[in-house]
Amino acid sequence: MRIQLNYDLLAQNTFRMKVSCACYVEYETVKELEGLNFDRLPQPLLHIGAGSNLLFTGDFPGTVLHSNIEFIKYVDVGLDEVPVMVGAGVVWDHFVEEACRHGLWGAENLSLIPGEVGAAAVQNIGAYGVEVKDIISGVVAFDLQERRKVKFSREECRYGYRDSLFKQPESKGRYVVTSVLFRLTRKHSPRLEYKGVRDALAAVMADPIGHLTPQAVRDAIVRIRRQKLPDPEEVGSAGSFFKNPVVSREEFARISPDGSAPHYDLPDGSVKVPAAWMIDQCGFKGAAEGGAAVYEKQPLVIVNASGAASPQEVLALEQRIINGVQERFGVTLHPEVEHI
Ligand code: EPU
Repeated sequence: MRIQLNYDLLAQNTFRMKVSCACYVEYETVKELEGLNFDRLPQPLLHIGAGSNLLFTGDFPGTVLHSNIEFIKYVDVGLDEVPVMVGAGVVWDHFVEEACRHGLWGAENLSLIPGEVGAAAVQNIGAYGVEVKDIISGVVAFDLQERRKVKFSREECRYGYRDSLFKQPESKGRYVVTSVLFRLTRKHSPRLEYKGVRDALAAVMADPIGHLTPQAVRDAIVRIRRQKLPDPEEVGSAGSFFKNPVVSREEFARISPDGSAPHYDLPDGSVKVPAAWMIDQCGFKGAAEGGAAVYEKQPLVIVNASGAASPQEVLALEQRIINGVQERFGVTLHPEVEHI
């Protein structure tokens, strides 16, 4: 276990904001977590994963906690379905990479998403037609209020679009996810709803001896993401900065009278419109506030272009985009990135 005071968080947030916290705690086991004297730590407490979906808006006055619980345990009973228990501190893409290498289906569309397993289950990460809730069967957590271990079924996690029980105001900060139970399968089950993925796999699928494997899908997704999204090693960002808004049919007709705007019809009759398209239409690609800029190849992403952008510059750019989209389309964008 590591406990440090006045800790520099630069390496703990992929946006690369130069901020610090009063105290930083990194633990290796559930026992260490349970043994912490929480009341004596500077408050409030903030549990982070890889810090890949956070915007620190300034120095954090409390304690930042981070899990190093790292294990991947396959509960292989010889059937198609393979339950896998994974520690919250495992790097998400290490798990996906290993599952694909073992020929297990389920996680491949979520390849290369930054972050760690615990945060993935809190945030319900998603990409290319799949959300992590689709392969989660349960979550084990430590309840900071009752100071005991708790288990949640997938239903109890109340998953929604980038949303879960763990993000609701009444339980936010209460549970620390320690491990996640996934259900992967050997059964051939590619998810190819997303056209870009089908296109990228066209050659494999057309080849009569070609073989669609989780690894082949992963390779295609990795290629797509590398083309569109900034490499966190090269430029700071926190992935999509805004959520894609969901509007009514009537509102969509107002946004796009001829219906030509990209959109996805949802089962309840409402329509999801890509925020990237709206931001693009407003001419914000490449727009900047100081060192913060709208990423040219995917305008849903705000990047720390100069490497020295301040939280205030990111916030100013965020507000400019919200105002611009509101004025042009009458739609209020909401950040996907958590502001601390
Ligand atoms: N678009 C434009 N101009 C652009 C780029 C995109 O108009 O310059 C339009 C296109 O019509 C495109 C549409 O926006 O079809 C959607 O773009 P994309 O397929 O890249 O996906 P997204 O809706 O912008 C979401 C997730 C991503 C996820 C991708 C792929 C959210 C907030 N974001 O982005 O997740 O990787 O789909 O499934 O739902 C993240 O959460 O951090 C993240 C990167």
